[in-house]
Amino acid sequence: MTNLLRKIPVIGSTRNIKHHNETTFTHGIKVAQLSVYIGKKHCLTSFELNSLYFAALLHDIGKTIIPPSVIFKPGSLTNFEWDIIKKHPSEGKRILETALCVQNTDILHSVLRHHEKYNGKGYPDGLLGEQIIYQARIISVADALDAMVSHRIYKSAFPLNKAIRELINCSGEQFDPYIVEKADKWNKNSLRKILMI
Ligand SMILES: [Fe+2]
Repeated sequence: MTNLLRKIPVIGSTRNIKHHNETTFTHGIKVAQLSVYIGKKHCLTSFELNSLYFAALLHDIGKTIIPPSVIFKPGSLTNFEWDIIKKHPSEGKRILETALCVQNTDILHSVLRHHEKYNGKGYPDGLLGEQIIYQARIISVADALDAMVSHRIYKSAFPLNKAIRELINCSGEQFDPYIVEKADKWNKNSLRKILMI
């Protein structure tokens, strides 16, 4: 019962995302399942997988403060619009801390760091390599894989094999090489079920 009560704010917050945009809601579910799939490949403990799941599920909750006209704008964004988008990881952490009273620092830092890149060229702070919490490095890979295989108003979907090759091509740049080094061995049927493709 205690565990269930702890999860109620999380359920409420996913409803907020769903209300904001169905695509963001579905994306969160797929990224959460995919993150756990990858986390198991790297022998995370059940405790780590649990916080990874909820961080991945809510990683884009900061987008609920951004107008859908910006997030789903077809074509390129202005610098001003990019600056708005880049606020969503820190807004997500703020929402989890203040509105939902989340105290688990793994979850908070995973949400804050999910757009950092392994080569230090990500945002919000340009952290490098292992300065980025491990769970955020996993969420980053799962986030990118779902984004690549999904159709969006501003882009068509990549085939799964091409998307996985892209993960490996970006090893050491956008992604942690250790996390994506065996991505071509991941079970395609399992990935297709998770990604709903
Ligand atoms: Fe994001």
